[in-house]
Amino acid sequence: MKRLLPVAVGIAAAVSLAAAAFAGPSYDADGKIVIPENMDRWPTVGTTYALSYEGDGGTTLNTVRLDPDSYDAYVKTGKFPVGAIMQLEVRTPVTEVAPAKGGQTQGAVVGRSLHVKDEKGGPGTWTFYGFGASSKTGSAIPRSQACYSCHDEHAGTTDTVFMQYYPALKEAHARVASAPE
Ligand code: HEC
Repeated sequence: MKRLLPVAVGIAAAVSLAAAAFAGPSYDADGKIVIPENMDRWPTVGTTYALSYEGDGGTTLNTVRLDPDSYDAYVKTGKFPVGAIMQLEVRTPVTEVAPAKGGQTQGAVVGRSLHVKDEKGGPGTWTFYGFGASSKTGSAIPRSQACYSCHDEHAGTTDTVFMQYYPALKEAHARVASAPE
């Protein structure tokens, strides 16, 4: 019996891990979003380098990830489900880290933010959340901020998500659209 015990504990741990799997955004009592764990394991949908937003000459390496449940849903339906979370991670570029003789690779994180289809502003709407390096929760960015106007103006027809920079999702969307009924 003594020998069986660790096995039973192992199974219980595995079950609770499965139960704790990602299931959309959660919020604390003040409406702050709880920063999901393990976002580095989420599927990457886009990487951009030195993207300049307003002719301001960007220099960073950006990675955009989508939570795994919403990624699966998008590939099947061509639509972002309510609860979808996208993460933008911004890193400084570094040059010539040995043995590289040229080119640039990812350095330190300088910013992260979330874009969440939480419908807090009405049906189909998304909210931006900002958070610091060690924050456990993120605050909603007010709708008066430029985040919303730029995303609306240039990505308004695609859920305010910059699909033009996410080729794998664009391809998935085209596959769903051309699939026989
Ligand atoms: C002038 C235009 C502009 C403004 C202002 C802007 N963004 Fe974006 N955003 C972009 C572009 C372009 C991308 C495409 C990916 C990239 O930057 O690498 C993007 C992508 C994102 C993404 C990835 C998911 C998606 O929706 O495509 C997040 C998250 C994000 N931005 C957050 C923010 C936040 C938070 C603010 C405000 C503090 C903001 N953005 C302001 C242009 C803008």
